[in-house]
Amino acid sequence: MTQKEKKPYEIKEAQHATREQNRLETVRQFEYMERLKGKIKELEQEAGHPLKACVNTFGCQMNARDSEKMIGILHEIGYTITPKEEDADFILYNTCTVRENANERVYGRLGHIKHQKKEKPHLMVALCGCMMQEEKVIETIQKKYSFVDIVFGTHNVFKLAELLWSRLESDRMIIDIWKDTDQVVENLPSERKYSFKAGVNIMYGCNNFCSYCIVPYVRGRERSRLPEDIIDEVTRLAEDGVKEIMLLGQNVNSYGKNLAKPMSFASLLAEVEKVPGIERIRFMTSHPKDLSDELIEVMSRSDKICRHLHLPLQSGSTRLLQIMNRKYTKEDYLLLVKKIRNAIPDISLTTDIIVGFPGETEEDFQETLDVVRQAEYDSAYTFIYSKRTGTPAAAMENQVPEDVVKDRFDRLLQVVSEVGANISGKDTGKVMTALIEEQNSQNPELVTGRLSNNMLVHLKGTVDMIGNIYPVRLDECKGFYYLGSLANEKEGLGGEGH
Ligand code: 5AD
Ligand code: SF4
Repeated sequence: MTQKEKKPYEIKEAQHATREQNRLETVRQFEYMERLKGKIKELEQEAGHPLKACVNTFGCQMNARDSEKMIGILHEIGYTITPKEEDADFILYNTCTVRENANERVYGRLGHIKHQKKEKPHLMVALCGCMMQEEKVIETIQKKYSFVDIVFGTHNVFKLAELLWSRLESDRMIIDIWKDTDQVVENLPSERKYSFKAGVNIMYGCNNFCSYCIVPYVRGRERSRLPEDIIDEVTRLAEDGVKEIMLLGQNVNSYGKNLAKPMSFASLLAEVEKVPGIERIRFMTSHPKDLSDELIEVMSRSDKICRHLHLPLQSGSTRLLQIMNRKYTKEDYLLLVKKIRNAIPDISLTTDIIVGFPGETEEDFQETLDVVRQAEYDSAYTFIYSKRTGTPAAAMENQVPEDVVKDRFDRLLQVVSEVGANISGKDTGKVMTALIEEQNSQNPELVTGRLSNNMLVHLKGTVDMIGNIYPVRLDECKGFYYLGSLANEKEGLGGEGH
């Protein structure tokens, strides 16, 4: 392969688009896909085998959803999708940069691919996602990983076909990074991981600027999709057999505030509930500062909205919460938990917690442990603070020593699992509905279902049950999951039909 010409790149300024321009962009991308179909066939003939693509996704649900869209495009143009990188002719990494170790993993993989590329010169490598929105990352890729073919960011995943076409037409690394956008290009192909459940973006970006977090810098300003577009998408999914919808956004509770005709998240939920065929609705992620009484009310009345709320705490110390720019106190948070539990007694709560934020003292940490005990989380995602260049926290001088952070992290894990163990099993003996998701990987006689509260249950069953909802008796709790058995349809459901 010839040495690629190094091209200076510039980050493109925010892209503004009208609804009509967005529609035309969809048409344009389909044109690229049509052209690529012929090109991929040619390449297949040259290679002497069907071309395979592997998409590796790091990070959150938003990235997972973007990857489904990109897999849809790759499939449309003729690639067979493979989970095995070593079989692939096209490898795409959809990256995350929320913590430094995610970046390190990508560089590690790229080091490995460098060798693969020597043995397999036709192998194409593309990088996209949050990490690519950082200038220093692009510089490193240009310098150290110049074999990479295509680099793009979070704002233009819909352009994959066009970028691939450009790469095949030229002999240099294609870099296309946008600073921000209000462009929402819809109705492109998308390959869902599951036939019966699907994620739906309701908004993009984040305006909160928590002082430790890089997301607002790499995902841009908050943009809500129009409610009619969301309902259209949910309706199409329901017609296609989808029963469970996960509404996705960095901060779903502030949905609709910036729309020309503002709409609350609670009203959007009420609209989604009306779509025939949708039996379960989930959403991620809720910021405690924006969680409204109206939302609690809509949830408590609903028999479709699942009994699970992910409510990131980050820290239990009011002092640290203020420095984190979270805009709530320990007391506000605990009051909110109380309100939610009063209105929805069977709710399961989960959270995110950061340990070792700059200046965290033992007293601050004790406050966090106190909230974990009082809030009685079913489970918690715990993170060691990671310094992200460009965020206000990265410039703070009082970083906590590594050994102190490690010790607190271990103690936090201990308390989280004690609290989880105390409340796990509380539904033993009840009958609840479970959406059967897959055959059990260890025992083919078992299938695995998900309860409304997000707990898993394993029960005797067959693959034809996958994608359907059944009443299941929860016979025995095994910590983080239940063993259950199919209940008679006529048996009463515990937990108000959930
Ligand atoms: N260091 C550690 N954890 C972080 N998170 C976000 N930024 C950082 C960081 N710099 C965590 C928060 C957030 C979750 C998605 O990742 O807990 O809720
Ligand atoms: Fe990051 Fe805070 Fe936005 Fe969540 S709400 S994505 S933690 S800035």
